[in-house]
Amino acid sequence: MSTFNTLSEFIVERQMDYPQASGEFSALFSALCLAAKIVNREVNKAGLANITGPAGELNSHGEAQQKLDVYTNEVFKNALAARGVVCGLASEEEDSFIYFDGEQNRQAKYVVLIDPLDGSSNIDVNVPVGTIFSIYRRVTPVGSPVTLADFLQPGRAQAAAGYVIYGSSTMLVYSTGQGVNGFTYEPSLGLFCLSHPNMQYPRGGAIYSINEGFYSHFPDGIKKYIKYCQEEDSVTRRPYSTRYIGSLVADFHRNLIQGGVYLYPTSSRYPEGKLRLLYEGNPMAFIAEQAGGKAIIGAGQAVLEQSPQSLHQRTALYLGSADMVDKVEEFLRAFG
Ligand code: AHG
Ligand code: MN
Ligand code: MN
Repeated sequence: MSTFNTLSEFIVERQMDYPQASGEFSALFSALCLAAKIVNREVNKAGLANITGPAGELNSHGEAQQKLDVYTNEVFKNALAARGVVCGLASEEEDSFIYFDGEQNRQAKYVVLIDPLDGSSNIDVNVPVGTIFSIYRRVTPVGSPVTLADFLQPGRAQAAAGYVIYGSSTMLVYSTGQGVNGFTYEPSLGLFCLSHPNMQYPRGGAIYSINEGFYSHFPDGIKKYIKYCQEEDSVTRRPYSTRYIGSLVADFHRNLIQGGVYLYPTSSRYPEGKLRLLYEGNPMAFIAEQAGGKAIIGAGQAVLEQSPQSLHQRTALYLGSADMVDKVEEFLRAFG
């Protein structure tokens, strides 16, 4: 029998490195894992149950909510509230942040920010979707109600970030700032098992991921970068391949394993960019940097250094293998 290092064992082992750790973080993680398992079960039977399609409401971004957006948001919200492990939550699917004022929650020091279902437009067509989460220590005193300031922290302050990809197998990938580790879900055991220890981008990527259909709306620097990707050059393995599936989690995960860059620029269609700094940009940037990659919103502007102004702020986003992001940056600097 092979021996698995399960996610809970792994967290306990890591916790032993911090004698002052209270166990609060492990409890928070086990709540996130429980929610991920429930969502995984639903996503896997999406074609059978009456859970695909629009829910009939718009979220705070004015986007049509899918039934599974609403469902996954409730699952994560309830799991985190019920176990008393966090004092507050901000979600892509909620207009404002939530203060959990239960007895235990009030004593918790962490807040969570979440994109409960990323790539939700792909759910009806059996393409991988995901959950993205970000964990911060609150900045206001423990015991008092959470405020916006607890959520509007620069990405650099994240205590941990991660994502779950519900794909051909389900994986949880996370970092607490000491590298990135990936765990594959073993459904018959109901356990996440360490399968991808210390994940790092390979040297030299050859994939670029962008919704090229919006080419004519892109800034000049990005148009020129796309042309660069398509040119012939054996040293840099060009032309690169395009891979874009429309679920950030899935596109990011592939690029992390195979080497590549993900681009979602500002455009005349999305003048501020489409992706959300707090629910998508920061957590993915944290993981990218921890895996030896790089993440920027523009030339000389690291994602993690941004000071968020509002919960649902959008941003341009370029992240992936460091050398590829460097090249994107060069084009943005030269051509805007
Ligand atoms: P969400 O489903 O959470 O709203 O996120 C969708 C995001 C992201 O996952 C994806 O990379 C991007 O939107 C795709 O956008 P386009 O369809 O504009 O390419
Ligand atoms: Mn998303
Ligand atoms: Mn979403």
